[in-house]
Amino acid sequence: MSASLVAALERSNIHPLWDRYKRITPVAPQAKDAPMHWRWRDIEPFAERAAKEVAIEDVERRALILANPAFGGDTVTTQNLIGAFTVLEPGDKAVPHRHTAAAIRFSTRADGAVTIVNGRRCEMKEGDLVLTPPMCWHGHINQGERRTVWFDAANMPAICALDASFFEPGTRQDERFWEVGTEGSSEYRFPGDAARRQLAVAERGKDGARTFRYTRNGAAVMPTLDLYLKHIDERTRATRTTWNAICLVVSGDGRSTIGDQRFEWSRHDVFTIPHWTWAAHEPRGASAELFIVTDRAIYERLDLLREEIQ
Ligand SMILES: [Fe+2]
Repeated sequence: MSASLVAALERSNIHPLWDRYKRITPVAPQAKDAPMHWRWRDIEPFAERAAKEVAIEDVERRALILANPAFGGDTVTTQNLIGAFTVLEPGDKAVPHRHTAAAIRFSTRADGAVTIVNGRRCEMKEGDLVLTPPMCWHGHINQGERRTVWFDAANMPAICALDASFFEPGTRQDERFWEVGTEGSSEYRFPGDAARRQLAVAERGKDGARTFRYTRNGAAVMPTLDLYLKHIDERTRATRTTWNAICLVVSGDGRSTIGDQRFEWSRHDVFTIPHWTWAAHEPRGASAELFIVTDRAIYERLDLLREEIQ
């Protein structure tokens, strides 16, 4: 191989394929991040501090985003996705805005909070899921008597990688945003009790767990996000997929083996399953439930779906 030719090509902004073939065409995906686990008991004191020390009037959102250091200081939980917890004190209003990134909230302790999506009222009882699809106006308010906390997930990293992020702030003064009817939204909200009922009658999947997929018209809830609720009552078979997942422990305790890591988790812990990493879960007691946010819909649309089971 002629080193002087390679150097001359590089000076002319031309790269010889033969010199870097493997870098251009990796033989398989290789996640940048190791799987990571955040314990609710470690997050909760920060939620408490943020609620006391950060006035909602001073910030767009009072959210604590789970960031894996593998992304070099970028605010990313696992590739394409961010997971976070948002805290609102009674009376707090998180101003309306909209953006091209897709987001969801899953209520952990948010009874009394309401998310308004495109003028529709979405209650946030424990286990409720609220969608904020791309470019839908959304704001949050705590109308209850106690602090509310919910789990958020969104795909800003994917949208920013495509450099397709647009963001429009609303105005703090516009009181009309909050004046919506009492009618709930079936378009943007999935009640927790209905999801649990469907999970209870879901068939056992190939991995040995019962899985409920949140759907709209038979497909993923949004073009870029695909959401699941999983009931585990025995050790699941290990799977690996081209897509990425963030898991929120909804109930129970258990452990997961993800790549070469082993996580012992409890209620409201969060952990990641980076793409193309083997993952298996088992409950410690009789059963456990996981809410799983994925970017599977992106890979499905791009015909890049690969899912393997051991
Ligand atoms: Fe938002």
